[in-house]
Amino acid sequence: MNFTYPEGATPLEYEELLQLIPPHITTQTELNLWEQNNILLAERWAFKKKQILSAEFVQKLHQKMFDKTWKWAGQYRHSEKNIGIKWPYISIEVKKLCDDVLYQIQHQSYSLEEIAVRLHHRLVWIHPFPNGNGRHARLVADFMVLQHEYPRFSWGRNQGVGSDLYHATPVREQYIKALRQADQHDYSFLIEFARS
Ligand SMILES: Nc1ncnc2c1ncn2[C@@H]1O[C@H](COP(=O)(O)OP(=O)(O)O)[C@@H](O)[C@H]1O
Ligand SMILES: [Mg+2]
Repeated sequence: MNFTYPEGATPLEYEELLQLIPPHITTQTELNLWEQNNILLAERWAFKKKQILSAEFVQKLHQKMFDKTWKWAGQYRHSEKNIGIKWPYISIEVKKLCDDVLYQIQHQSYSLEEIAVRLHHRLVWIHPFPNGNGRHARLVADFMVLQHEYPRFSWGRNQGVGSDLYHATPVREQYIKALRQADQHDYSFLIEFARS
């Protein structure tokens, strides 16, 4: 099977590709659809959860999102990618991130939405998993605002046709650009993008 990767995506290692669960999938489109269905099941599971700011939840959510797709669902990376921290530090950094976010909420360090967007960025920056990091970290941020009775983020979906983040669309370009601004500690573009 040939996979296509838009700008800002992390290509999979050959060994990771061998761990695809459904044997009948042969195209990228089929895989995308299969993953989307898997993710919907995870959303249903996660909406009932009370405590989402823990390393356990973060890992379990990824597992639920991809457990019918990849054998490495919910497992932290064991290889370096073109983005992300060095893999041996993932576990400790995810824990630190959750603790920091709990502290920020308690002390109202930023607005709640800004805390969620910063959480999203730091999680994709860590890049805990071999794949699915963008979708996973968007969902984590979504659940955080939902728990505080804010509407779920739209991540560019209100911009109309071709606004999906999975293909090389102009909206995805905006998203990646906003993440790169956030890499430079300017979160304003990403905050705006999350509600666009
Ligand atoms: N410069 C960057 N800074 C922070 N995050 C980035 C950057 N470039 C890409 N990303 C994130 O990495 C994601 C791609 O990682 P990947 O594991 O393939 O996720 P997915 O499979 O859900 O798209 C992008 O969707 C984005 O969230
Ligand atoms: Mg990907």
